[in-house]
Amino acid sequence: MTGFFHTESELVCDGVPVSAIADAEGTPVYVYSAADIRARYRALDAAFGDHPHRLHYALKANSRFAIVQLLRELGSGVDANSIGEIEVARRAGFTPADIVFTGVGKSAAELECAVPLGLKAINAESAGELARIEALAARTGRRARVALRINPDIDARSHPHISTGLTINKFGVPADTARELLASMAGRPLLQLVAIHVHVGSQITSIEPLRGAAAFLAGVAAELTRAGAVLEYLDLGGGLGIAYDGGRAVSPREYVAALVAEAGATGLPLVIEPGRAIVGPAGALVARAIDVKPRSASSDFVVVDAGMTELLRPALYGAFHRIEPVRRGGGPLRAYEIVGPVCESSDVVGRDRSLPALAPGDLVAVLDAGAYGSAMASNYNRRPLPAEVLVDQGRWRVIRRRQTVDDMLAGEL
Ligand SMILES: Cc1ncc(COP(=O)(O)O)c(C=O)c1O
Repeated sequence: MTGFFHTESELVCDGVPVSAIADAEGTPVYVYSAADIRARYRALDAAFGDHPHRLHYALKANSRFAIVQLLRELGSGVDANSIGEIEVARRAGFTPADIVFTGVGKSAAELECAVPLGLKAINAESAGELARIEALAARTGRRARVALRINPDIDARSHPHISTGLTINKFGVPADTARELLASMAGRPLLQLVAIHVHVGSQITSIEPLRGAAAFLAGVAAELTRAGAVLEYLDLGGGLGIAYDGGRAVSPREYVAALVAEAGATGLPLVIEPGRAIVGPAGALVARAIDVKPRSASSDFVVVDAGMTELLRPALYGAFHRIEPVRRGGGPLRAYEIVGPVCESSDVVGRDRSLPALAPGDLVAVLDAGAYGSAMASNYNRRPLPAEVLVDQGRWRVIRRRQTVDDMLAGEL
């Protein structure tokens, strides 16, 4: 069994007691299972069977260097959302041909770096961006490989903050505009259209939006082929959700089967950009209780040493994460509001939780925190970024040391 599970006495990560890591490295600390990341990558990869495909891991979910290197060893490509992510990927050994550059607001400086690199594709999000790429290609004398992100007007039925596939969202170009832009490509020799792209949202927990987006893109690809265009692949984006409540999520097999059923007939290789589904369940945020104090007649606050600065998702989206005591305690359950130490009332890690009695000093683990956790961490309240640990084959190592005040002040003049 890989990842996080309870023995009779306590929570372990790939067999290593989480308490041993917290005792050695302090809290808050992110703990990741390398075995779980590998298993999740391989499950998605294997689900394609013989169908030509490539996974481009979405770095935005977690771009900790050791994790990026792990993905490279697995044979992944990457989806980078900034020149910073591109640079991290290159330092981790990815070549330009392994990188797709996505993102709704690529700055002039970013495009100036990206165009000469000869990436697998720059996924353009507007007519203006295509024109800017074209101008840079003319200046550098290098034809740019581009994909066009099309907004299919599909409701991902996820949280509104992470739904991207409706035309009221800022992402991509609507189908009509896309058709005009795609038709213009034949007369634009500096732009090599290699793919078309959709990404309708994140944390998608039903198959329909993902299937619908694949069917939509396959339809546009068929139109393009009839018009004589030659695409290299279809980029179906990311978005596969995970079961934050511990229930059932769409399985990699079900997901990939739907994509292949809808888009396989195009004969084109399929690219996906999964982030959360690979690293989300493979990481936990471990925190220690600082204080316990009464909240109401029937519940207490537990103030822990991790909050919105380490894991923003609950405060940002009202996201739910399971919270479990690291050591199994007996006794009756109590009602708790698990809150962070930050000076914001929204700094609640978990509302209305039923847990065995907690006391200051007890450890808790916030599960499924591997994606969009440390990646969104901040120094608000001058809190240092937490330590991060990777467990691999029964051993663990720090992959990012806890920030110091000196680290925080570095660069301030
Ligand atoms: C273009 C694009 N690709 C991939 C992803 C990764 O999504 P997820 O982590 O849900 O798989 C995102 C995240 O929103 C994205 O914007």
